[in-house]
Amino acid sequence: MNVKEFIQQYRVVPVVVFNSIDEVRPKLKAMCKGGLPIAEITYRTACAGDAIQIAVKEFPEMLVGAGTVINAAQCREALNYGAKFIVSPGFSTEVAEICNAANVPYLGGCVTPTEIMTALSYGCDIIKFFPASNYGGLATMKALAAAFPAATFLPTGGISDKNLAEYLAWEKIFAVGGSWMMKGAPEEITEKCRTAVEIAKNV
Ligand code: 3PG
Repeated sequence: MNVKEFIQQYRVVPVVVFNSIDEVRPKLKAMCKGGLPIAEITYRTACAGDAIQIAVKEFPEMLVGAGTVINAAQCREALNYGAKFIVSPGFSTEVAEICNAANVPYLGGCVTPTEIMTALSYGCDIIKFFPASNYGGLATMKALAAAFPAATFLPTGGISDKNLAEYLAWEKIFAVGGSWMMKGAPEEITEKCRTAVEIAKNV
């Protein structure tokens, strides 16, 4: 599976936080039903590793990655469990090295020119821009892009179905990430995933 091509089919990356293992199967099923089979499972909770293992094993139709990966140990664990891409809130050079050696895309967070220069020097040209709304959203990314034509962006933080289309309309947006579609009961998740996919298709 080509990870970048898979994500570009949808251009929306759900940021998923599991508070317990019991949530994993119903939520992932709801996402697949809603036509959005991508999950960035975040290391914000203790069950992230177990959740990644379940997702990889039981949901082969999904693209499963790990998010909020802030150190080498989490990165190695996620890759061992089968994560196909790694996301961090900031840019970690140790995580970048591990991902490069494993040939797995690393989307590290950058909000300054210096951070983007570091990311590009590691061959990471998809820049996670987080928290997007606090750091000036599209206007800031456009200003940064002028200096870095090779970079594309994955903005996350403060994005919802209300501003999704506006972000996706800019050609330098690789995809948009967020947790807005993961709130509520499984039926609501399905519905919100469907809406997000629909919006992305129509841009
Ligand atoms: C992330 O880790 O990318 C963000 O927490 C997602 O932001 P959101 O919860 O505002 O969508």
